[in-house]
Amino acid sequence: MNLQQDVSLKSYNTFGIDVNAAFMAEFNTRQELISLIKDGSCKDLPKLILGGGSNILFTKNFNGLVLKNNIPGIEIYDDRGEVVLVKVGAGVKWHSLVTWCIGKGLGGIENLSLIPGNTGAAPIQNIGAYGVEIKDTFHELEAIDIISGNATTYNRQQCEFGYRDSIFKKTLKGKVVITFVTFALSRNPVLHLSYGAIDQQLKTMGITQPDVKAVSDAVCAIRRSKLPDPLIIGNAGSFFKNPEISESDIETLRRQFPGIISYPLTGGNVKVAAGWLIEQCGWKGKVIGNTGSHKDQALVLVNYGNASGNEIWDLALTIQKSVSEKFGVNIEPEVNVM
Ligand code: EPU
Repeated sequence: MNLQQDVSLKSYNTFGIDVNAAFMAEFNTRQELISLIKDGSCKDLPKLILGGGSNILFTKNFNGLVLKNNIPGIEIYDDRGEVVLVKVGAGVKWHSLVTWCIGKGLGGIENLSLIPGNTGAAPIQNIGAYGVEIKDTFHELEAIDIISGNATTYNRQQCEFGYRDSIFKKTLKGKVVITFVTFALSRNPVLHLSYGAIDQQLKTMGITQPDVKAVSDAVCAIRRSKLPDPLIIGNAGSFFKNPEISESDIETLRRQFPGIISYPLTGGNVKVAAGWLIEQCGWKGKVIGNTGSHKDQALVLVNYGNASGNEIWDLALTIQKSVSEKFGVNIEPEVNVM
C-alpha cells in the first residue's frame, strides 16, 4: 500500500487549486481498494474518492484520505451482434473510451467526446452534451461499499439518473466507490444530430453522410471553439446547472426578457440556459483577480493563475446572487464544492 502524507492536490483537480490532502493513496485494482478500506490505519479517516478531478472545487485542505481511482481496462464483455456490452475500468479517461469505441465502430457516446474526467465519475453526474446523456447507453456498474468493501451491481433504474444527477449524488454520496462501468453500445447507432450546432459544424466540414467518427470530430471542434482547455486555463466545465422553471414563470420572464433561451422538458417545465442569464448580468469575459467567467461561455468559471478555491467560490456566489436579483431564478452549482 502506497500511502502518502501531505500531498498537494494541485495537479489532481482541473481547476488547479493548490490544497493539500492529509493522506493520499492511488489504487489500480478492486483488491487494492478493498485493502485500503480495510487497513487499520485508514479505517477511521474521512475519505474522498478522486477520479479525473474535473468536477470538483476545493476550498480548503482535505483532512482525510484521498483515494485516487486508477482502475484501467476496456473490454468487450458481451458481443450480442448489434448491441455490444463494453466493460470499462473507472480510472479510464472518458475521452479515451470514446476514441476506443469510435475505433471499433461502436456508437452511442460520440456526442460526449472530449468531456474531461474519468469513466467512473461519468455516471455520478450523468454526464451529458449535445442531446445525449450517459444514461442512454448505460448498462450497469459495480460499486464497492466504502466501509464494508462489499461489491454491488447497480442497473440503470437503480442509479436513478436525472439531469446531472444520480443516486451517487444523493443517498449514496460518499458511500460507495465505482470500480467498473458497463455500456451497451451499438454497431448501427442512431446518430443524434438534432443539436443545432452539430448539424452546422458537419456542414462546415463538408460532411453530408456522417458516421460516429464525423459526429465526434464535429463535437470536438465545437467544444474546442468555446470551452477552455483545463490544461491551459483551470476550469471544471459548466459551473452551474441549467435551472428548471415552470411554463408560467418562463412566460412572465419572456415578456420582460424576450431573448431568454429555454428548452421544453417533458412534464411542462422548461430548462433555461444559465450561460445566457449570466451573460445578461454582465459577467461573460469579466476577469476578477485570478478568476472570471469565460469569454466564450459564461457558464464556465476559470482560474487564470493562482486563484484559491474560495476566490472562485466567492465569484460563484456573487454571480448566483446577481442572476437571482435580475431574473428571480436560482442557479445551482453543478460542480462539487469541498
Ligand atoms: N449562451 C449564451 N451565453 C453564454 C453561454 C451560452 O447566451 O455565455 C447560450 C447559447 O448561445 C445557447 C445556450 O445558451 O443558445 C446554451 O449554450 P450551450 O449550447 O453552450 O450549452 P449550455 O446549456 O451552456 C450544456 C452543458 C454542457 C454541454 C453543452 C452542450 C450544462 C450545465 N452544461 O451547456 O456541459 O457541453 O450543454 O450540450 O448542462 C458540463 O457539464 O461541464 C458541460 C460543459
